[in-house]
Amino acid sequence: MISIIVAISQENAIGKNGQLLCHLPSDLQHFKQITSGKTVVMGERTFFSLPKHPLPNRKNIVLTDVPNKTFEGAQSVYSIEEIVDLFSKTDEEIFIIGGGMVYRQMMPFADKLYITHIHHSWPDADTFFPEIDTNIWTLTQNETMSADDKNPYDYSFAEYIRK
Ligand SMILES: NC(=O)c1ccc[n+]([C@@H]2O[C@H](COP(=O)([O-])OP(=O)(O)OC[C@H]3O[C@@H](n4cnc5c(N)ncnc54)[C@H](OP(=O)(O)O)[C@@H]3O)[C@@H](O)[C@H]2O)c1
Repeated sequence: MISIIVAISQENAIGKNGQLLCHLPSDLQHFKQITSGKTVVMGERTFFSLPKHPLPNRKNIVLTDVPNKTFEGAQSVYSIEEIVDLFSKTDEEIFIIGGGMVYRQMMPFADKLYITHIHHSWPDADTFFPEIDTNIWTLTQNETMSADDKNPYDYSFAEYIRK
């Protein structure tokens, strides 16, 4: 089973200059709670953008185009097909954790989306998540949280499953 987990802005932006759009500790906690002990799959750029890589307490898998390239503390995969073959027919839930290139290619194969909707805009963002088509995805959960002294914007933790 393939799940996607991501934090997106009001315009589906996810990143700028190789980094996240903002620091939202509550979302990092949410991400950690959902993915801990699980397998996480990411593109090479996202792997190196992490403050600490590999992500602790998770099996890390990194997608790269470069044949035989390896990453310390992570398994390498070299194509989208390899990820789909490994995980689409297992009961184990694995998580696609970015970035833009990998989300776009994995969206057709995903069974579930964990989306943090950040209620804010970043007009200068440079990396985006694909449109969540409501003809394809059913919203099954949506919990809205208010900004506080640690989290600068309102946000919602949403879950969608494929129809
Ligand atoms: N908001 C969020 O939740 C969230 C989550 C994750 C990341 N992000 C943001 O997203 C941005 C990074 O995303 P990105 O799109 O630039 O990069 P990315 O998707 O993280 O990584 C791209 C790299 O993955 C490899 N790759 C992608 N497709 C491949 C394929 N079909 N076959 C083989 N290798 C493939 C290539 O690596 P090689 O160059 O090694 O071939 C490519 O350069 C950053 O700003 C990051 O902060 C945001």
